[in-house]
This record gives sequence, structure tokens and C-alpha cells, in this order.
Amino acid sequence: MTAPTLASYDAIPYGSIPIAETHVESLAALGRLFGVATADPCRCRVLELGCAEGGNLIPMAFYLPGSEFVGLDLSVGQIEEGRRLIERVGLANIRLLHRDLMDGADDLGRFDYIIAHGLYSWVPEPVRERLLAICAGNLAPGGIAYVSWNALPGWHSRAVMRDMLCHHVRAEAAPRARLEAAYRFLDSFADAFAAEAGDLAPLLAAEVAYLRQAPPSYLYHEYLVETNTPVLFSDFMAHAARHALRYVADASLHTLLPGALGPAGRNAVADIADPLARIQYMDFIRARRFHRSLLTHAGEQVSSEPDGDALRELAFHADLASDDEIDLASAAPQAYATATGARYAVRHPLAKAAMMRLALAYPDSVGYRTLYRDAVGLVAAHGDEAMAGDEAAFAAELLDLLAWDAVRAAATERAYGFEPAARPRAHALARAQLDAGADCLASVRHTAVQPDTVGLRLLGLLDGNRDLDALARAMADAFPAGEDPAMVRQSCEQLLWTFARNGLLAEA
Ligand SMILES: C[S@@+](CC[C@H](N)C(=O)[O-])C[C@H]1O[C@@H](n2cnc3c(N)ncnc32)[C@H](O)[C@@H]1O
Repeated sequence: MTAPTLASYDAIPYGSIPIAETHVESLAALGRLFGVATADPCRCRVLELGCAEGGNLIPMAFYLPGSEFVGLDLSVGQIEEGRRLIERVGLANIRLLHRDLMDGADDLGRFDYIIAHGLYSWVPEPVRERLLAICAGNLAPGGIAYVSWNALPGWHSRAVMRDMLCHHVRAEAAPRARLEAAYRFLDSFADAFAAEAGDLAPLLAAEVAYLRQAPPSYLYHEYLVETNTPVLFSDFMAHAARHALRYVADASLHTLLPGALGPAGRNAVADIADPLARIQYMDFIRARRFHRSLLTHAGEQVSSEPDGDALRELAFHADLASDDEIDLASAAPQAYATATGARYAVRHPLAKAAMMRLALAYPDSVGYRTLYRDAVGLVAAHGDEAMAGDEAAFAAELLDLLAWDAVRAAATERAYGFEPAARPRAHALARAQLDAGADCLASVRHTAVQPDTVGLRLLGLLDGNRDLDALARAMADAFPAGEDPAMVRQSCEQLLWTFARNGLLAEA
């Protein structure tokens, strides 16, 4: 039953990368926001089911040396790849086990956090059953299990293309051959879909465009594998309840907020009192395709709304900047953007000031009270003093920015103090990943960092033996011929600060 899964992931590895929503800092904070007394992420035990090559778990272990990590995966090739990286970095707080989930995890003890990303919908029914059984049986009191899954009704729209692709590649058994046949189908039929006037034509044309830009491993493991079972939210919750697990929240918080719907959507769900039923109907309105559910033991007390007192005990980090001068004197919406280009409107002067404060501190997390105090100081000094004392408005907008992932929460305040040393050195994980030929590195905030070729080349030179001048000289031929050496030096310096901001440099 599990043999095809094993073969396909060995042939086409999933290429696992850091997934910010699964980070234990974030799981700890969201759990607390909903009333669960979660464990300190710096001293906890973490289990990842279906960890692939450890691209999500290994960076967490590297940056949280006081915690212990165990990953399980059925694919021996991926586990061996992950183990090689662990050995290169010299990590002692993580183990990757080649194991079928069906063999259970009774021997591994209890975990404060269990992560199963991209697994539930992609395994046969008995394995899904075992997945939730492990979440229930191996979760410590106050623990949080993160389980992501494909959702109905939204996945019905993707299933149209999946059915066609599965039909087209049905004669091919080998994973690579199936993938190549799928690309030939997309190439041959793209124009035909686009030219049709039928109801589904725009959907199919959009699917072709979407799949052509997606990683091949995604196309393969979502569209060409035998098992991809999307489910309704209510069915997932019933399944969790059979394992004595209860819902805490979604890792993408905004999906829980009726306020994130338009006025008609808000009206439609306004009379649905049961929070879980409301989420189901919000899924219908949005035709939702994907969930990131946080679960805990059925016996835990969980609040159905984010708790304001708990919010005030958390810390926050964000990397948002505005191109315009920050207006601290009015609640006019101002556009802020992340380094990756996601845009958010920030309104209240206290929230605008807090975003400035967090951008300066990044990647450090700043506690709620410090953040509020500093925001008040900035607004009083540079904005409208009359707006500087509205703590409730500040809390409400901070929660909204958190819900939309503009800001991330952490359980505790943490200062990293990264700054390029006179002779900068990439840290052990970055060096080991570069040596292994990786082009995607993990930031200290668990985001995927993909430097361009110039950035990768500079990172490779950061062995602690070269100062900025030596680095600029060594990098000269990476820039266009005749480039002003002062410009090369400046570019290298900027890149060093970007690496430092992402936490990719060893301490001085
Ligand atoms: C879609 S991938 C997701 C990988 C990773 N969690 C991520 O999201 O990047 C699913 C992973 O689950 C693993 N897997 C599938 N069935 C399994 C089983 N019965 N026991 C353990 N691992 C399994 C596969 O080998 C694969 O690495």
C-alpha cells in the first residue's frame, strides 16, 4: 500500500523548505493566543511527520539548540539526504528516522509540537488514521499539532485538471516519465483551453498557467500521484474528534475572521453561532482549497476568539517598510510591503510607528508592552499626540496585521543582535547548505531565502578570513566588466547586511 509513495518520493523528492507557519515560535504564540499553555519553544520537543529531507526541521533545530527534534519519513533517499546535512552541520539535537507512519511512534515519547505539513491528504486512509492517532498519542499536555490538508469545496476546481492529467499519464509508470508526459499535455493543450468559450475554459487556462510556473515536484505530488484526498472542514474536524483532538485555530489566522469576507459574506455567516460551523460556511463562500489546522487535546481549554490578555503577553516581529514618509499624524491608510513584496495597509499612527520599530529591530522580536510604549513615544514626538494613547486601537490593528501575516507572533522577546563582523563568516548551516549545492537557505525567522547568483557567490566567500575590501576584490568578476570598484564594494556591503538581517552570519 505504501510502496508507490516510497518510490515516487525517492524518484522526485519534494524539495522541502522552511515553512514559517510551522515554526514552533509561531505555534507556541498562536496556541497561547487561544488559551493553550504551550511549551517554551527554546526548550521543547518537536516531531515532524513526513519530514522529507528535513528542509523544514533542520533549520529549526539549528536555530533552537535547546530544543529536541525528531523527523520521520518513509522515503529513504530523502532521509539520507537530510542526515548528510545534519552531519555536515554537526547538529546533536535532531534525528531523522526512516520509518513508515504505520509503524507508529510509541517509542519516541511525548512532544510539545507535532508538525504534519503536506501529508494528511496525500496518504491513503489507514495512514491518515495513524497520523491523527500519533498526534493524539504523542502530544504532551498543552501540545499543539499542526496538520495541513487539501480542502473542499475549493479543490474540486483543481481536481478537474488533476483528472485530465492522471488520464493522460496513465500509461506511464515511472515518476519521471509521468511528469514529462504531464508537461507535454500542458504544452499541447494550453492554447486549446484558452480558445474555448465553455464555462470551465477560464479555469483550465488559469490552471495551466499556474502549473507551468509551479515547481515540478509540486505538479507531480499534487496532480499525478494516486492519493490526493481533499476533505470538508467539518469532516476533518469529525476525524480529529474521533482521536480526542480539538481545534485551536488556523495557522493563517485571517481565514477565521468573518471580517475578512466582503459585506455579503459577513451577512451570510452572521447568524451562525457555532465557531466550527461558521468556518465551514466561510470555506464554502471562499471555495477554500487548503487548511493549516492547529489541534490540541480535547481536554484542553481553548477560547474560540483570540484572547486580548494573551495578545499582550506575546512578542512580535515584522520586516515591513513603506516607500512613503510615515504619516504618524493621521489614520490614513499607508502601504507597507515585506521584503518579498506582499503589501499591507497600516492605519492607526500607533500601528505605523510599531511597524517602524519592528523593521528596525528585525529579526528580533519585541514584546507587546515595549512595542506599545515605543510606538506611543514615536507618535507623541512625531505625530498627533491625541492619538498616542489609544491602546485598544493599537491592539486591534496589531491583531489584524498578525491575522494577515504582516506581523508574526513569538512566544517570547528575543534579541539576536546580528551585524556583519569585520571578517564575516556564513554560519554552519548556510555553509553546509551551500556545500551541498542548495540555492535556498533558511533565515532565522524560518523563511526561505533564495539569493541570486551574485549573492550565492558572496556567501560562499564568507569564511571569516576576508574583510569587506578583500570580498569586494574577490567579487569583482561577478559584476559587469568595468564596474566601478566602489560600487562593487557598496553592493557587497548591502548584501552582507541582508544576510545579517536574515541571520545567515555567524556571531562575530
Ligand atoms: C508532500 S510531501 C511533504 C513533505 C514536507 N512535509 C513538506 O511539506 O515539504 C509528503 C511526505 O510524506 C512522506 N510519507 C508519505 N507516506 C508516508 C508514510 N506512510 N510514513 C512516513 N512518511 C510518509 C513522503 O515520503 C513525503 O516526504
